[in-house]
Amino acid sequence: MLPLTDSHGRTKRKLRISLTDRCNFRCTYCMPEQPDWLPRASLLSRDEVVRLAGLFVAHGIEQIRLTGGEPLLRRDLRECVLALDGLRAQGLRRLSMTTNASRIAPRAGDLVAAGIDDFNVSLDAVEPALFRRMTGREIAPVLDGIDALVAAGAKVKLNAVVVRGDNDGDVVALLEWAMRRGLPLRFIEYMPLDAPGQWRRDAVVSEADMIQAIRQRGHTVERQARGNDPATPWRVDDDYDLGIISTVSQPFCSTCDRLRLTATGELFTCLFSPVGTPLGARMRSGDDDEALAAIVRRAVWLKDAGYAVRPGPVERATTMHSMGG
Ligand code: GTP
Ligand code: 5AD
Ligand code: SF4
Repeated sequence: MLPLTDSHGRTKRKLRISLTDRCNFRCTYCMPEQPDWLPRASLLSRDEVVRLAGLFVAHGIEQIRLTGGEPLLRRDLRECVLALDGLRAQGLRRLSMTTNASRIAPRAGDLVAAGIDDFNVSLDAVEPALFRRMTGREIAPVLDGIDALVAAGAKVKLNAVVVRGDNDGDVVALLEWAMRRGLPLRFIEYMPLDAPGQWRRDAVVSEADMIQAIRQRGHTVERQARGNDPATPWRVDDDYDLGIISTVSQPFCSTCDRLRLTATGELFTCLFSPVGTPLGARMRSGDDDEALAAIVRRAVWLKDAGYAVRPGPVERATTMHSMGG
């Protein structure tokens, strides 16, 4: 079948699936303090997730990334992974997960065995008090989770959202920690998608500011050629790969190859789309695969140019934690 392409000539190869909006963390840049969780009955069942995922794979999606909230809070996570792993025969090449890792330690080997190829772990600070301030939770279980993933032979990358006045002074300490551990790290510019609506332009630490801070502490930093990833690759001290996801200062929308499905089955063609397409609802009202595929094709075709042309906060009910980042 023809791959999914939008009217700006961008072909979609990656799908992010949020398995639940629930999260056991309270990252200030993401979650409201008192979240209204989605009603459980509205979440896609495992069979529904797998049916929609299969439809996307049949239309050229090659990578699926499981997100949340926190995917480990999904009770049938292992069964979901096993079922999605079965889509490799249809063309799925990579099955990934983004997690806060706080509950992963006892299950790391199990998830790798079930089919997860790589894990992106959120780690905004290594200083315990700062970590607690940013996430509302303790760092120790997260570090145990990272150790367990590494011990299980998993590929692990670290993600740190940088917020001025919170962890901007800790950026180099985090980088040096990741370098010592030999774990790739991406710094992420704070995006105007936080549920509490506290984002301000001056809270964003730009890619340029981060690079300057790293150089000021005596490291060499060279920009590398950019691929299709959201991160700009940088080489630090000639032998370490750092990425910076600079949505705000240098949007990379022109190469965007992603789609997003929320836990209720809403299709968002862009992280910043004001509205989604209710694919799950259409499936529940009886649409067959052909009808669902036509809805997807149309939504993808109409995908707008992105943050690059419409910067700033988005007013909508679906927040970052229910979108999965
Ligand atoms: P890789 O497959 O390892 O490149 O993962 P990823 O970076 O796409 O996923 P991850 O869940 O680790 O997300 C890291 C950060 O990138 C989060 O803040 C996401 O919101 C952001 N991100 C992911 N995809 C996009 C995108 O298409 N556009 C923008 N603006 N940000 C994105
Ligand atoms: N800006 C940038 N990244 C964010 N994330 C959550 N909220 C924001 C935000 N406002 C990141 C998380 C996680 C990923 C899924 O999205 O830190 O790494
Ligand atoms: Fe939870 Fe991730 Fe949001 Fe933090 S960023 S509150 S870990 S969904």
